[in-house]
Amino acid sequence: MENDAPILILDTGVGGLTVLEEVQRALPDAPLIFAADRAGLPYGTKTEAEVAARVAGLLGRMSERYQPRLACIACNTASTIALGMVREVLEIPIVGTVPAIKPAATMTKTGVIGLLGTAGTVRQPYVDRLEADFASDKRLIRHPAPGLVDLAEAKAAGEPISVDDVKQEVSGLLDAPDANEIDTIVLACTHFPLLEAELAQIFGPNVNYVHGAKGIARRIAFLTEDQTFERSQKDFAVVTGKHNPAQMERLSRQFSPYGLDEVRVF
Ligand code: DGL
Repeated sequence: MENDAPILILDTGVGGLTVLEEVQRALPDAPLIFAADRAGLPYGTKTEAEVAARVAGLLGRMSERYQPRLACIACNTASTIALGMVREVLEIPIVGTVPAIKPAATMTKTGVIGLLGTAGTVRQPYVDRLEADFASDKRLIRHPAPGLVDLAEAKAAGEPISVDDVKQEVSGLLDAPDANEIDTIVLACTHFPLLEAELAQIFGPNVNYVHGAKGIARRIAFLTEDQTFERSQKDFAVVTGKHNPAQMERLSRQFSPYGLDEVRVF
């Protein structure tokens, strides 16, 4: 493996940046490529077959082109659906992002945990298994909030969003039986940590938010601990799909705060 072989981080959009940020912190010398499957956004409303085929195909083509040492699926929807399959078809290590139910179960005092994810994620058997393994003695209230994906995209582009917009998307969780006892919320979509400030205003000061980004960065650091990193070019972003100049400009606004100054089309 070349020392400049990158770590590839894939999501549909800005959600993956919440993971990228932690990887940058843990491994500042690691060359990174951030891949946003804009043409596939959103994964959360697609069928399992569509997501699995898309992610496996895309990661295969990107691996051929960029020769990454490791790929991270920075998306709960894609990971809970397709992690096993992608690991079977690619030869490099694949790190996934799955709902942080295990840490949430250790944190909750009331025993009532909320889980916000895409519609695709909340219905996955993978989530059933996490619940059975780590939270069987807790009450886990799952709520699909796919509208938060667009709100996170807008916020990351510097566009105005309101707390009321966010509240509408989570009203089903707010109104659920026992919701007043929720003290921990799993942000089971990588886009949602970008809305933590708005969620904190809605759910009040006594709720903790938990997601996997730091754990993923630790896992990637562990898997690469014996490897040497050397940057031969600046980190950059790649996006799928066709974009007009205004859309490219919006993408640059979203990515450049993370040091991704160049946006290439894949
Ligand atoms: N960021 C993705 C996730 O973690 C979802 C966004 C989408 O629906 O494409 O599930």
